[in-house]
Amino acid sequence: MHAIAVRRGEDDPVVLEKPRPEPGPGEALVRTLRVGIDGTDHEVIAGGHGRFPDGDDHLVLGHEAVGVVEDPNGTGLDVGDVVAPTVRRRPNGKNEYFDRGEPDYAPDGQYHERGIVGAHGFMSEYFTSPAEYLVEVPDALADLGFLVEPASISEKAFDLAFASRSAFDWQPESAAVLGNGSLGLLTLAMLDAGDRFERLYCLGRRDRPDPTIDLVESIGGTYVDSRESPVDAFPEDVEPVDFVYEATGYAKHAFETIDALAPNGVGALLGVPGDWEFEVDGGRLHRELVLHNKALVGSVNSGVSDFEAGVETLLALDDAVLDRLVTGVYGLDELDAAFATDDSTIKTAVEFADR
Ligand code: NAP
Ligand code: BGC
Ligand code: ZN
Repeated sequence: MHAIAVRRGEDDPVVLEKPRPEPGPGEALVRTLRVGIDGTDHEVIAGGHGRFPDGDDHLVLGHEAVGVVEDPNGTGLDVGDVVAPTVRRRPNGKNEYFDRGEPDYAPDGQYHERGIVGAHGFMSEYFTSPAEYLVEVPDALADLGFLVEPASISEKAFDLAFASRSAFDWQPESAAVLGNGSLGLLTLAMLDAGDRFERLYCLGRRDRPDPTIDLVESIGGTYVDSRESPVDAFPEDVEPVDFVYEATGYAKHAFETIDALAPNGVGALLGVPGDWEFEVDGGRLHRELVLHNKALVGSVNSGVSDFEAGVETLLALDDAVLDRLVTGVYGLDELDAAFATDDSTIKTAVEFADR
């Protein structure tokens, strides 16, 4: 079967030939429909994040998949079920986080992430997975099922952030998403659909005309250019916001978020930056967090319940917004377009098969 992989020492994805996998006990065989691409895939390809499987000279890419069950192998699934796989897998042997059904809370070193850390991903014509990590997706969402994983990332982050405000009568009105990449824009659409905030902002660093700015405005959000209004100037330039969702991976934004927040606000940090030393006024930021009951929450990965919530949220999203978000679905002979990073590309996917 064909698979899309990055080889050790190279920084371009290539198509490889690999044997079709055999499902082991408790595993189903899935025929891959589509696999989405995000900023993490680009970081993995560039060698800035993730790890090759031990002993292998390549890593099959892809962690945002949707497929159809080809062989349930006695797992209770049915042939033809549309499913989205979660990303984390047991590294080896016993693991209390996986035993509890909370692999997304396992610390570094205690998990593999398919397509990212130490395990092959889903960009192949077939993949196998323990059935417990396959989340059913309604047929209506089969084409866009590769958005379930990124949606699940935000479902988890919302849960963690809003839980930190649950001890009092939090009445948020405004939210800012930092980053107009695929995760930021999907999240803006999810926040809009959630109807919790009256005013939504999205931060970028692009000139008009730009498709991401058009998408922000079609969702009803206000575009904020970080070159004119830096994140820590939100209170003066925009407004102090009750919720910040950081999806730039730009490390200064983690600290600037503290200033952007209104009293009693919360910021969720999603970006995965490399090392970067810079100065901050630690005393002032510490004081600001304490005297205004502000919170910062880091969030990574997601679990089965977040995937299930992501399915429900995606079903509620406007088709026109999703059409604008997904700028291209490409075949195996169009890898340049699928992995493009130009300003006209927002979210892409590779198609392995039709339903
Ligand atoms: P992406 O496509 O690279 O998007 C990042 C966006 O942020 C880009 O559009 C970029 O703008 C914008 N940006 C970067 N620095 C900026 C600045 N200083 N001011 C304004 N805008 C800025 O990545 P993604 O797939 O959307 O993911 C976003 C981040 O979340 C990445 O760091 C990724 O690794 C991380 N992530 C984390 C999780 C998790 O579980 N925690 C899950 C998924 C993704 P330009 O395009 O104009 O450069
Ligand atoms: C993936 C997550 C993963 C994270 C860190 C994200 O792009 O969507 O599942 O945990 O990267 O590797
Ligand atoms: Zn991802």
